[in-house]
Amino acid sequence: MINAQLLQSMVDASDDGIVVAEQEGDDTILIYVNAAFERLTGYSRDEILYQDCRFLQGDDRDQLGRARIRKALTEGRACREVLRNYRKDGTAFWNELSITPLRHAADQRLYYIGIQRDVTRQVETERELAELRARQKAGDGA
Ligand SMILES: Cc1cc2nc3c(=O)[nH]c(=O)nc-3n(C[C@H](O)[C@H](O)[C@H](O)COP(=O)(O)O)c2cc1C
Repeated sequence: MINAQLLQSMVDASDDGIVVAEQEGDDTILIYVNAAFERLTGYSRDEILYQDCRFLQGDDRDQLGRARIRKALTEGRACREVLRNYRKDGTAFWNELSITPLRHAADQRLYYIGIQRDVTRQVETERELAELRARQKAGDGA
């Protein structure tokens, strides 16, 4: 079994955001965020602890991925979705988010681990490629 202090250092050193949330009524509130999550979002842990992560969506809530996350959480399933999120300074980024539920044997409470990865470059490249293909296809048909 890995030493708990080593595991904590690894999580802190991760280049991907790693957060732990706890079920609190309808919300899943943050009880831990690592340094990479602070770098990714521009928020310090003191500003966001005990809040539900949905604040990262700002007013941009009408997203398919959000509904799928909500369904997965209700059904107690893990999920992986890409969402548009906003940093503290208002800049947008694409967040590939993986969420896994865990029922902790010791206190029987429901916890979630969330891992966030900035996939903005990949999403933009895919879109440019799709546009290029569409233009080529339109050109071929002419
Ligand atoms: C552990 C965990 C991490 C989450 N991380 C994010 C995140 O980084 N960005 C985001 O937009 N939503 C995140 N969410 C999803 C929202 O907290 C919320 O579950 C989602 O918006 C669906 O619920 P709603 O429709 O009530 O907002 C996370 C959820 C959990 C449980």
